[in-house]
Amino acid sequence: DKLTVGFETNCVPDLAVLLEDARQEHFDFVCVPLVHPRFSRDARGVSETRSTPLTRSDLLLDSKQWGSLVVGKISEWIDLDSPCADTRRSSEVAFKQEMAWVSHLALAAVMLPTPRPGAGANYSRCLNQVAQELGYVQAWVRIPTVWPQSEQVSCDDGSGVLHVINAGAGTAGGGEGIKPAGAVLEDPWETWSRIRTLCEHLACLNVVLELTSDLPSEAALARWDGEQVRAVIVRTNIFLTNKKGYPTLSRRHQDLVMWLMRFKLQFVVKGRPRHPKGYLPYLQYLDHLRTRRQVTPPLHERETFEAPYLDFLQSPLQPLMDNLESQTYEVFEKDPVKYSQYQLAITAALLDTPEDKASGGVTLLMVVGAGRGPLVRAALNASREANRQLRIVAVEKNANAVITLRNLAITECWTNVTIVASDMRCWDAPEKANILVSELLGSWGDNELSPECLDGAQAYLKPGGISIPYEYTSFVAPMSSHKLWRAVESMGEVKRMETTYVVKLHNFCQMAKEQPCFIFEHPNVPLPGTGGIDNRRYVTLSFDVQQSFTLHGFAGYFSAKLYKDIDISIVPSTFSEGMFSWFPLYIPIRQPVQLRAGETLEAHFWRCCSDKKV
Ligand SMILES: C[S@@+](CC[C@H](N)C(=O)[O-])C[C@H]1O[C@@H](n2cnc3c(N)ncnc32)[C@H](O)[C@@H]1O
Repeated sequence: DKLTVGFETNCVPDLAVLLEDARQEHFDFVCVPLVHPRFSRDARGVSETRSTPLTRSDLLLDSKQWGSLVVGKISEWIDLDSPCADTRRSSEVAFKQEMAWVSHLALAAVMLPTPRPGAGANYSRCLNQVAQELGYVQAWVRIPTVWPQSEQVSCDDGSGVLHVINAGAGTAGGGEGIKPAGAVLEDPWETWSRIRTLCEHLACLNVVLELTSDLPSEAALARWDGEQVRAVIVRTNIFLTNKKGYPTLSRRHQDLVMWLMRFKLQFVVKGRPRHPKGYLPYLQYLDHLRTRRQVTPPLHERETFEAPYLDFLQSPLQPLMDNLESQTYEVFEKDPVKYSQYQLAITAALLDTPEDKASGGVTLLMVVGAGRGPLVRAALNASREANRQLRIVAVEKNANAVITLRNLAITECWTNVTIVASDMRCWDAPEKANILVSELLGSWGDNELSPECLDGAQAYLKPGGISIPYEYTSFVAPMSSHKLWRAVESMGEVKRMETTYVVKLHNFCQMAKEQPCFIFEHPNVPLPGTGGIDNRRYVTLSFDVQQSFTLHGFAGYFSAKLYKDIDISIVPSTFSEGMFSWFPLYIPIRQPVQLRAGETLEAHFWRCCSDKKV
C-alpha cells in the first residue's frame, strides 16, 4: 500500500548524481528529459550534420536501472499539432528520434508532452506510427486538470463561444490542414479522449493528470474516474503553507488526491521545494493523505469483503442451469442484511395473513429455491416473532443443497419443514401455499430467470396468496470505464462483448442517474388476450448528457420489493446499506461512443424469450 513517488525535473547535469539525490530524498524514480531541452532539431536535416551525441550514453546506467528508475520525458517544446509547418515537422523528427531512444532503453514509461488544447490529430498519428516499436513501454500523456491560464483567453467575438489562443506555440506559417490557433475551447478531458480514440484505445496509452491550482467542477473531475490514470503530477507551487511552515494542500486538492488514491497510481512531485527540509515534507504530506484515506471512513464489513473483487469481471451465475457450489452459498449466507430483510417481510406477511381455521390456524409457507436453508431459518424466526404457527415446504432442485437441507432438518430439529427435491417449475404440489418465498434474483433482477421459475411455482400459491418478493425492477445507467471495456475487448472475441459481467465497479464513472428498465410482478398475471404469461420486454430509455464523456456500456442494478415497503436494493440511490450479496452488472458495448454535453443518449433494451432460452 506504500505510495510510489517520483521526482520530475528538467535540470540533469549528471544523471547518476540526480538518482542518488532522489534516493536520499526518498523518491522511487525520476522523470527527466531524454534529450537536453536546448538541443534543437529541424526537419531540413541541418541538425543531422552535428557530430556531437544527441543525448547522454545508455552506458550511464544498466538496463535494469533504466527500466525501474527513469521515466523519460519527451522534449516539451515538441508541438505535433502546431499550425506552423516548420515547427510541426521539426517536432515530428524530434519525436521519432526520442521515441526510438525510449524503445532502445526499454524504459517502463515515457512522459509525452501536453497536447495542444482542442487538438491532437497529428499527435495521435505520430503516436500511432511509433506505437508498434514501444514494446512494453507505457506512453503517459500529460493532461492538466485545467489548461494553464496563459493558454486560455476569452475572446468575446459576439458568438458567445469561448475561444482558445495558444500563447506558447508558433503562429506563423501555413496551417496545411492543421486547425489554426483559435480553436473552440474544450476541456482537457476531451482532448485526451480524442487522442485515445484516434489511437484506437492503444493498450500502452495512459493518462497522467497534472494537478493545477484551479480545479474544474466536481462533475468534470468525475470523468477521470472512468479513465485509467497512471500517475498524478503534483507541483510544489500548488501547495499552501500551514502555520508551522509545512506544505499542505487546499481542501479540494486534498479531497481529489485522496479520491485518486483509491486507484493504483503513482505520484510525481515537480518543482522547487519551498521548505528548508527539501522534498521530505511533501512526501510525508502525501503519505499522510494516504493513511488518512485508509482510516476515514473506517473500512466496514462490506468494503473489506469487496476489496479483492474491485473491477474483477465475473460471469453471472446461472443457478437454474448450473448447480451452485457450497462456497457460493457460503458467501451469500454471510450477508448481514438480505436475510434480516426477508425475515422482516415474512413476519409482516404472516401478521397480515388471516389464520386459516380449516387448517388449525397453521399457515403454509413455501420457500422455492431454498438453497442451504437460510430463508427457511428466516421463516422459522418470523413465525416466532409473529407468534404464528407455520408449516414450511422447502423446494430445491440442486441435489447437493438438498443434502444440506435434510441434514439441517435433523440437526436444527425442523419438525415442521418438508423438503422437496424438485424443479419448482414442474413440481406437482399436493396443496397450495399462503405465502411463497423465493430469492432467485441476479444483479440485474430478472437475469437469473426468476420470472420463468416463479411462473411455474405460482401454480401452488393460493388465490390472494403472498409472493415475497412481489415485484422487482432492473435499472440501467450509462457509464464510462476504459479499464473494464479494455478488459472485455482484450478477450478478443465478439461474443465477449455481447454478454454481461458481474463486477464490483470501481474504476468507472456513472454518467447519468440510473433509470428503471424491466419490471416483474408476482404472482404474474397473464395479460388478457395474450394466451399466457409474457415475459418479453422492450424498453427505450433516454439519458441527458450533462458532461461530454465516452460511453463504454451500462451499469445494471436491481431493487426488489419483498413485502409492502420492505425491500432490498443495489441501486446506488436506494442501496440497502451493508448488503453484499450482489455486485452490479457491467453491460459492455462493442465500440465506445463519444457523447457531447447537451446531447441525449437513447438506449434500447430487449428481453427476448424462446421456449428454450431467454
Ligand atoms: C440464489 S440461490 C438462493 C438460495 C437461498 N434461498 C438463499 O437465499 O441463500 C437460488 C437457489 O434456487 C435454486 N433454484 C433455481 N432455480 C430453481 C428451480 N427452477 N427449482 C428449484 N430450485 C431452483 C438454486 O439451485 C439455488 O439453490
